Amino acid sequence: MKHSSWRIGLFDSGVGGLTVLREMYRQMPSESLLYFADSARLPYGTRSRREILQFVREILDWMSAQDVKMIIMACNTSSALALEVVRKEYDIPILGVILSGAKAAVKQGKRIGVISTSATAKSHAYRQAIQEINPQTEVWEIPCPKFVHLIEQNQLYTDYTRNVAQEYLRPLIARKIDTLIYGCTHYRHLEKTIRSLLPVSVEVIDPAEYIVVAAKKELSLLGLRNEQFPLPTRFCVSGSPEQFANISQQWLGYYPQVTKISMGEISSSMMALNPVE
Ligand code: DGL
Repeated sequence: MKHSSWRIGLFDSGVGGLTVLREMYRQMPSESLLYFADSARLPYGTRSRREILQFVREILDWMSAQDVKMIIMACNTSSALALEVVRKEYDIPILGVILSGAKAAVKQGKRIGVISTSATAKSHAYRQAIQEINPQTEVWEIPCPKFVHLIEQNQLYTDYTRNVAQEYLRPLIARKIDTLIYGCTHYRHLEKTIRSLLPVSVEVIDPAEYIVVAAKKELSLLGLRNEQFPLPTRFCVSGSPEQFANISQQWLGYYPQVTKISMGEISSSMMALNPVE
């Protein structure tokens, strides 16, 4: 039996999901949170569907054992490649970012650009979700494989990052998009650069804002909104806690306590025996 005072679990490959965590603080300040970054296995965006499914199942197994009442995939790649499959496997509400982002974008525009990891772009999850709502909408999905590393290395405002962003956005600007979706949770961290390169008329959609609205609704329906004072956020990573804490500080506004957990040891050795396609 889940309890309303339990935490909401969020996960991503790295610091991208902090954009969702920040929205949680803003829109649902009374909830207690558990954040997991699978930083030892980052990036997810170049992985196969099979690998993503395996990582996601491991994270969900672990999170389900931590007294969480809901899990948010604060990662588009996991949402695109694994959500539909794993949702049926766990007795806990699991939310992904894509549908919320697609719904918000369709309300805004008809010519929609999506920037994302290669895996998300290849899955066409956004195009599918958007055109299911409005088949008249045009959608262009652009993979941006360099962004995640640049963000994780805290290269947010360098000339190099700006040039990379310019190259990625060029084809979308040429198509005269009216709306741009951050199809990877990391990308909001590049907001200043991205917005400065786009025509001012382009509406920018961050699915993080809308997934939190959806989570709030669902918790209310389930009668699971927290009524008590929230616990401090628990941060866990599979990679280096110091590295995560150092870079996260600027977005959190405090230096987080981060614990390393040893997820992935089993899967890494399994994968060595069974290389993925
Ligand atoms: N932030 C994730 C996403 O939204 C994953 C990025 C990565 O590890 O490639 O897709």
